[in-house]
Amino acid sequence: MKPIKLKEGIYWVGGIDWDIRNFHGYLTQRGTTYNAYLIVDEKVTLIDTVKHYLFEEMMERISAIIDPAKIDYIVANHVEMDHSGGLPRLLEVAKNAGIYTSPNGEKGLKAHYKKDWKFHVVKSGDSLNIGRYNLTFVQTPMVHWPDNMVTYLPEEQILFSNDAFGQHIASAERFDDEFPRDIMLDEAAKYYANIVMPYGAQVQKTLDSLKHLDVGMIAPSHGIIWRSRIPEILSEYKTWSNNEPTEKAAIVYDSMWGSTEHVAYAIQNAFENRGIPARLMNLRTNHISDIMTYILTAKYICVGSPTLNSNMLPTVAGFLAYLKGLSPKKRIALAFGSYGWGGQSIGQIEGTLKECDFQLLEMVRILYVPDDGQLQEVTAKLEQEIIAIN
Ligand code: FEO
Repeated sequence: MKPIKLKEGIYWVGGIDWDIRNFHGYLTQRGTTYNAYLIVDEKVTLIDTVKHYLFEEMMERISAIIDPAKIDYIVANHVEMDHSGGLPRLLEVAKNAGIYTSPNGEKGLKAHYKKDWKFHVVKSGDSLNIGRYNLTFVQTPMVHWPDNMVTYLPEEQILFSNDAFGQHIASAERFDDEFPRDIMLDEAAKYYANIVMPYGAQVQKTLDSLKHLDVGMIAPSHGIIWRSRIPEILSEYKTWSNNEPTEKAAIVYDSMWGSTEHVAYAIQNAFENRGIPARLMNLRTNHISDIMTYILTAKYICVGSPTLNSNMLPTVAGFLAYLKGLSPKKRIALAFGSYGWGGQSIGQIEGTLKECDFQLLEMVRILYVPDDGQLQEVTAKLEQEIIAIN
């Protein structure tokens, strides 16, 4: 387990989580990494740690460079335990290390670990000289927790961005020019959609505060390091955080006897007829985190369920809870479904879509089984609505 050199005296010493497939509900089909970075300077500095069970792996990489007891400073960019989990054991080895973190970082770390470590609270614009290198801190609250900050090393133009610009990818490669571009951008989009999306306004502020920095390398806390595709990922973050969806539709549904699915296809026909790509996403075969990746850039969100015991199907309820929490904006939505007698599910779906602040199209309710005429009517009516709003 070797460290990887980024620049003179600066190394990746993180851990690779090859097996993780579920990151609190997010399907991490490619695993992930927890990236820690070691800077060997007059003051030996570690930026972030790893999830607790990869502590030994991180220590093996650090030990290949220096004795971990010699670490003077630890920068804790983020409290969440995938980055701070290694701190308790590390501080048993590097007993005198000081922890540089934001005001909320100090509060959060104390609340998690109940330890009175040597905290040094830093704010945006504060700098720390570690020898030939300097570290400048910029607070980035809510990207992803209130405590988040990023650390900039001006002499080598490296931004240690923590969760921002991350991707859940476990790989042997560490740099973007060593890894397939499309997979990296897809995973960056999935990461943004499922973790960062609720905080678009804060991302905009972060992008603004980074504007004046010359960035030649973005070293995030998950996945691969950006050095060749920096303008591309910055541009994607700008688009995603601006909530600028494209003309395409997600049709998300579950069905009992196929009627709601027939309506889903009729809805797809309407979009197709208007030249708008529409993807059918059955909740039995699509994971909600993959659906959200598609929704990141989809202007239309159609959600369908039959009625079961006076409710929508649990798969649909789970998806709607997830969607509402991630809070995409500037979307147009439609509730649909079939029913036998009560038909409550469709109104319930519409209620949640309304709470999401989406512009609503007229809901579609079908009694039991739709015939061809009814399906054609659904398509024709929706086509007219799409024309009217564009
Ligand atoms: Fe990768 Fe918010 O922790």
